[in-house]
Amino acid sequence: MVKLTIDGKEVKVPAGTTILAAAKSAGISIPTLCFHGRLDPIGSCRMCVVEIEGCAHPMAACTTPVVEGISVTTNSERLQRIRKDSLKLILVNHPLDCPICDKGGECLLQDLVYEFGIDRVEYQTPKPERSSQYATPLIRYWPDRCIMCLRCVTACREIKGIGAIDIKGAGYGSQVVVIDEDKCQSCGECLQVCPTGALTENLSRYKGRPWLVKRVPTTCTYCGCGCQLELNVEQNRVMAVTTKEGKGVNRGSLCVKGRFGYEFINSEERLTKPLIKKDGEFREASWDDALSLVAEKFKSIKEESGPDAIAGLSSARCTNEENYLFQKFMRAVIGTNNVDHCARL
Ligand code: FES
Repeated sequence: MVKLTIDGKEVKVPAGTTILAAAKSAGISIPTLCFHGRLDPIGSCRMCVVEIEGCAHPMAACTTPVVEGISVTTNSERLQRIRKDSLKLILVNHPLDCPICDKGGECLLQDLVYEFGIDRVEYQTPKPERSSQYATPLIRYWPDRCIMCLRCVTACREIKGIGAIDIKGAGYGSQVVVIDEDKCQSCGECLQVCPTGALTENLSRYKGRPWLVKRVPTTCTYCGCGCQLELNVEQNRVMAVTTKEGKGVNRGSLCVKGRFGYEFINSEERLTKPLIKKDGEFREASWDDALSLVAEKFKSIKEESGPDAIAGLSSARCTNEENYLFQKFMRAVIGTNNVDHCARL
């Protein structure tokens, strides 16, 4: 264990721990922007700078490991000035278009700018030409809002192991670009980690502000992994799907189906009543009529050809309990072991 002092408080942490993590373990909060709990430290924003006794220059707490006996200060006039200046420089790359940004109300940059009391974009430079082309049509890239924190690029590479996007160029003119469109799985991991509105979802634009939607926690029904997600509901309609960082077996990640496959829920084309085919045409029927017809047909097939003339296919989208009941029904009521599952089809 390594012993150090943070803001006068003695802290003991395992060797290799960063100053940021050590401070957190002691209940001391340091502002961050590019740091993300699931990614290796990026160290691009300098919001987390701290002073270490004996060091001439402030160090980034998210990338600096603890050393035995050091004394760290996380809050001082000098540090606040450096953090404020860093934010002002970040704002060179970011318009204050919060009223029309989908991320308004849940944007880390917006929160920090508010906290540090910055009321205007102080430094102005000519805007570099940047392309808004992105790896998937499900996500919109707003190059003028991108603060080059590199979270998206790092998440695509480290969490998903894909590497479909990267940074092109250097300095002020650099931007996120697609390096391999075919590799992109449209999972939205980049969108999930973006701390600003530089990446927004194309499906849910202008459909609901974060503070107006109700977030209903639920389990994804697309496969058996049991990923945890939140349905963003407004006026009884699902507007988007979000996750909480670190929550559930998926730890906040989703695949393309879990994140973007929700429009069917409120689709006008969705069947809400059973249909019975009569004279070659489907007609709406009551559940009682539909279930009676199915029971009748099962009975007559069983009488004519035996129970093994019937087979049942269940689904990965059902719960374990539903699948258990289904196979029980096939075996105990119909009398056949012909039960299979859509995942094998
Ligand atoms: S949070 Fe440490 S440099 Fe960005």
